[in-house]
Amino acid sequence: MALKSRICEILGIEYPILLAGMGGASVPALAAAVSNAGGLGVLGAAACSPDQLRSWIRQTREMTDKPFGVDTLLPASVRRGSSPQSGDAPDNPMALLGEYQEFTRDFMEREHLPHVDAAAAMRAAGAPEMGKSGLQLFSREFFEAQMEVVIEEKVPVYAAGLGNPEPWMDRLHANGTKVMAVIGKVKHARQVVDSGIDMIVAQGHDGGGHNSPIGTMSLIPQVVDAVGNRVPVIGAGGISDGRGVAAALMLGAEGAWVGTAFLATVEAGIEHFQKEAITESGDADTVVSRSLTGKPARMIRNKWADAWVAAGKEPLPMPYQSMVSGPVMASGIKAERKDIMPGFAGQGIGLIDAIRPAAEVMRDLVDEAETALASARSYS
Ligand SMILES: Cc1cc2nc3c(=O)[nH]c(=O)nc-3n(C[C@H](O)[C@H](O)[C@H](O)COP(=O)(O)O)c2cc1C
Repeated sequence: MALKSRICEILGIEYPILLAGMGGASVPALAAAVSNAGGLGVLGAAACSPDQLRSWIRQTREMTDKPFGVDTLLPASVRRGSSPQSGDAPDNPMALLGEYQEFTRDFMEREHLPHVDAAAAMRAAGAPEMGKSGLQLFSREFFEAQMEVVIEEKVPVYAAGLGNPEPWMDRLHANGTKVMAVIGKVKHARQVVDSGIDMIVAQGHDGGGHNSPIGTMSLIPQVVDAVGNRVPVIGAGGISDGRGVAAALMLGAEGAWVGTAFLATVEAGIEHFQKEAITESGDADTVVSRSLTGKPARMIRNKWADAWVAAGKEPLPMPYQSMVSGPVMASGIKAERKDIMPGFAGQGIGLIDAIRPAAEVMRDLVDEAETALASARSYS
């Protein structure tokens, strides 16, 4: 029995399995490996400067002639508001920055974390090679400049990891780009479908990275019921082996968007010690915390996330919290501290016990899903 669905035709791929766009992890080598293995590789380009994004797209094209996608973030909160600026209005998070950076300094001293320069801290917070663009990371101007590159480069698939890509929909569609959005609530699914989206990724609470309050198993069928007659739904969050892919299909999804299972791969862009942290962790080793980006994100449990809980301190909203966490991220990575910066991961992490080539992971996802779907017949 061959694993196929409607999205294979729409996207021009062999199997309905998509590499989740993961900042820092879904780099060109990983995206190309997944596309070459019959899935859809999606670049985790959220923090790429416009120049770097263009270079990633071109590198991916050199490594595969198959379709691939680009994932960036378009958070409505940032697009509605203004870019971070200095100011002392009580509701301005910049007013709290000094106090919060003091918290960072105390934490680093307590944990004997080495000092890093500001540029390294910004890179760790997700701003590699900002070059001379002069754009503020995660500002509205930053997202808009990224979208111009996505449009100019006519990428096959665009995925908005946060927010609604409606303002760019017509230009993307005019290029033949298929557009998807990652959502975590039925309400948001309805909104993006009304904007003319081609596909929806329903990502539940189990998933790594930015996260929905609703569990994957509950979310997928409710999103399918709400919008599945208009656009295909792709399930996400905690799908870390082929049984999970089959389960998503049983819940009415027409594909799976898989993140964590591709983290412990040779091609993933994260550090080796972070890949080891994945293989060493179990089902209960992740937490949801706003301590890194300011939005709730699932990560491997670590001392930085715990410190905010212990202090009873509310992290700043996106994009300000990255300015607070940047030095800890950079230093934790430099010092290869699994207890400080093990990275984002989903609850399926306990299913992963080796660092392998991405093509092997893809093959297993397909084989296991086919086996699970075939054996499901024995229940009827
Ligand atoms: C390391 C990591 C980084 C992530 N970065 C992003 C990102 O930059 N943009 C995005 O839309 N989602 C991001 N996510 C969420 C994934 O796209 C996806 O929804 C999630 O990984 C699915 O759950 P799973 O990890 O359990 O498979 C990230 C997830 C992880 C684990």
